[in-house]
Amino acid sequence: MPSVSEHYERHLAPVYVWMAGGMDAALLRGQAEVDAVCPRPSISKLAVDLGAGFGMHAIPLADIGYSVLAIDSSSTLLDVLQSHLGTRPIKIVSDDLMSFRGHLKAHAGLIVCMGDTLTHLPDHQSVERLLTDVAEAPERGGTFIVTFRDYSSPLVGLERFIPVRSDSDRILTCFLEYDDVAVTVHDILNERDGSEWRQRVSSYRKLRLSPDWVVHALEANGLQVTREQGLAGMARVIAQRPL
Ligand SMILES: C[S@@+](CC[C@H](N)C(=O)[O-])C[C@H]1O[C@@H](n2cnc3c(N)ncnc32)[C@H](O)[C@@H]1O
Repeated sequence: MPSVSEHYERHLAPVYVWMAGGMDAALLRGQAEVDAVCPRPSISKLAVDLGAGFGMHAIPLADIGYSVLAIDSSSTLLDVLQSHLGTRPIKIVSDDLMSFRGHLKAHAGLIVCMGDTLTHLPDHQSVERLLTDVAEAPERGGTFIVTFRDYSSPLVGLERFIPVRSDSDRILTCFLEYDDVAVTVHDILNERDGSEWRQRVSSYRKLRLSPDWVVHALEANGLQVTREQGLAGMARVIAQRPL
């Protein structure tokens, strides 16, 4: 099975903005979420976007006054971000998000990990390591926000076929296969090629993380944590480093 970064570079990244409904619509959704849940910059004006992708949150965070460190392993998606950032203070870093602290020179006011990125990590130990690092990286009173899909209760039978997006030239469908710790996501992409259709399929693993487990891991690192409903059925966990 391809690694997460291979799956993105070879399969998903070239159609990712299309999958998200186009750049303008995606940025409007990102802006609405940032407006609704992210604190405005205070002492530290630095925000970190872990798994920033094409900048759905990094761009709106810069627009409300943060300097943003946008880290992602997909050069294709970071190129899209680069071409849309204009003069915004966004530093683009192409690296594994697990290494984010090596790119920080000061405590951040805000760290976000949005849009189901957390489930892309290879195992639960990696998530625990990341959450430990994240607990120390914000300034006192600073905030960490993570949104992710709760795959802890498996879908069964035909529920596992998920229509993601389609138009007259392209159809993307996911099929989910569960094991004890992860779900294998098969991304089935049909694209029109002249009068014919071509199918490409690629698969990758996402972790089955329960929101309660993420909450407990953050609390164990001394953060004050709340959990709420996020966009598009995702869980949203908001954690604050005590003053
Ligand atoms: C589902 S997308 C979410 C993107 C963005 N946060 C959003 O909300 O649109 C997951 C992103 O995480 C990135 N990613 C996954 N695992 C990563 C890792 N270990 N290091 C850096 N980026 C990673 C992928 O390249 C992809 O851009």
